[in-house]
Amino acid sequence: MCGITGIVSLNRENIGEVLVKCGRKLTYRGYDSVGLAAVHEGKVDLRKDVGTVDAVDKLLGLSKMKGDRGIVQLRWATYGPPTKLNAQPHFACDDSIYGAHNGNIHNYVEYRRELVETGHIVRSENDGELCVHAVDKYYEQTGDMLEAVRLSTRDLKGAFSFAVGRADSREIYAVKMGSSLVAGVGNEETIASSDLPSILPVTNNIIYLADGEMLALSPEKVEVYRIEDGKRLTRKPEPTTIDVHAAEKGGFPHFMLKEINEQPKVAQDVMGVLQGAKSDEWLNIIEESKNLYLVACGSSYNAGVVGAYYFNRLAGIPLVPSIGGQFESMYGRALDEDSLSILVSQSGETKDILNVLNLVKSQGRGKTLGIVNVIGSTLMFNADAYIPMACGYEVSVPATKTYFSQTVIFAYLAAMLGERNGTLDRQEAKSIVRMLSQDLPTQAQATIDHTGILAKNLAKTLIGVKDLYCLGYGMTDGVAREGALKIKEICYNHCEGMYSSEFKHGPLSIVTRDYPVIFVTTPEDSWMVINHINEVKCRFGRAIIVGERESSLEPYVSNEVDYLEVPKGNIVLNPMIDVIPLQLLSYFLSVDLGIDPDLPRNLSKTLTVD
Ligand code: M6R
Repeated sequence: MCGITGIVSLNRENIGEVLVKCGRKLTYRGYDSVGLAAVHEGKVDLRKDVGTVDAVDKLLGLSKMKGDRGIVQLRWATYGPPTKLNAQPHFACDDSIYGAHNGNIHNYVEYRRELVETGHIVRSENDGELCVHAVDKYYEQTGDMLEAVRLSTRDLKGAFSFAVGRADSREIYAVKMGSSLVAGVGNEETIASSDLPSILPVTNNIIYLADGEMLALSPEKVEVYRIEDGKRLTRKPEPTTIDVHAAEKGGFPHFMLKEINEQPKVAQDVMGVLQGAKSDEWLNIIEESKNLYLVACGSSYNAGVVGAYYFNRLAGIPLVPSIGGQFESMYGRALDEDSLSILVSQSGETKDILNVLNLVKSQGRGKTLGIVNVIGSTLMFNADAYIPMACGYEVSVPATKTYFSQTVIFAYLAAMLGERNGTLDRQEAKSIVRMLSQDLPTQAQATIDHTGILAKNLAKTLIGVKDLYCLGYGMTDGVAREGALKIKEICYNHCEGMYSSEFKHGPLSIVTRDYPVIFVTTPEDSWMVINHINEVKCRFGRAIIVGERESSLEPYVSNEVDYLEVPKGNIVLNPMIDVIPLQLLSYFLSVDLGIDPDLPRNLSKTLTVD
């Protein structure tokens, strides 16, 4: 979803350069359009257009804009198409108040009408513009910006954050009302932003905020206020150890490839966390709950599907996976005080997930356990307990290493719970933990090394293919869904991921000569998957196999390039290992198709809207 950053400095002249630098770090949140408002000698220079930060900078010279304060906004379009007019920041009726938002204003239609009827000049179809007019409306009434910003939030319904300033005042104000916002205190300058990466080029001293809080940034300090009653709050900046360079490509052509290559290290890091002091707390909260739900979206959901298999296989415990947006209507009424909702989200800001968090909390329906990557996110702060994914920044829009980490977390939890409830004996549980902590990093590295070239060669044969399936069975169910999601997301192909035994119940009719179907399989299940492969092959379809080398499978590939062979290993590691060649396949295919895999069209890394 969109990203905003506002900076107020004492003596800077080059605000454009700094805001472009910081804004670039938010690219993953939106790249439909970019705009920058810079205040120089009491005048606001506002430039904006369609495209990425770099494209708009080239077009309009954003980084050359002068000033000591300003706001940059990166948009992922929801209200109003991605046009120059709808790009943010916006002016209010005249150019004295400027501002930009992130999130959605749900009462857009009614409130826009009300503003227009009361004489406001609303130019765009974008809901962010309404935030600026709302502040304008209350500034006219009170003559006090802090109070105007506070009161404006009463008119605006939805989940959002925004930053706003006046040409003639050196402050910038920002509110957090359901969308992310963090602040930083630097040397004679302060900053507020949707996310940490864009703060780190300026400072490591961070102030985290809760919903319902607002900020006044001046060059010397960040003041925090409670929106409800305007009470000033004490909030000290805390130094963060997060490294600004973690959000750079480090010699790789794309973040996605870098992040795929980080997976062996992720295995080590997350296992370190899981075996640390908090492990018992996480296991206890699961063990004490009667009904377990797993709620997530996209790749996190696919990892959750793998989690359900681990919980069954290693602990004999049912874990019900649900897509975030579906959860309330499918399971909401079944939630009770003994329920645990395990909420999995890389960003910790996905609105579909926060809706479930709020549902559980507001109705007192059991507990929540977050599994989250972004430290300081809403999910991290508000779940009853949280497990960190320990991945560092995942910048590329397609999730890779966080899916990987999530599956490791589920395998570990399931093994430990299995030991606790007697499904596994001590030795079995220990051996799984050893595999995860010692074998997995090496195996993941071997898989990257071995399947890179195989995936690259296979990708070449799929250029021009617009439609395919990716099927899994048992432990590879979630893997196949994830592989299909990656191909859809960054290659713009229709690739459906599904359970391989389901394929014959309808989709099989799509198969004609050479129609490609990817089968992700393990030695444990290949005896069954062969049936599904045969159903495709006898209709002259093309079978592509992802899995360990098995002589029984060899006859089914017409060409060696169609066998994406992974190193031999244990079934428990298959969901982490088998996904790697699929990540690499989608990456190489995307690059071959001339697509930037880090920034697929129409998408955003963090979806803070319904
Ligand atoms: O931040 P989250 O884990 O909650 O995000 C969920 C999905 O939006 C995300 O996994 C999405 O599907 C990925 N871009 C897929 O690669």
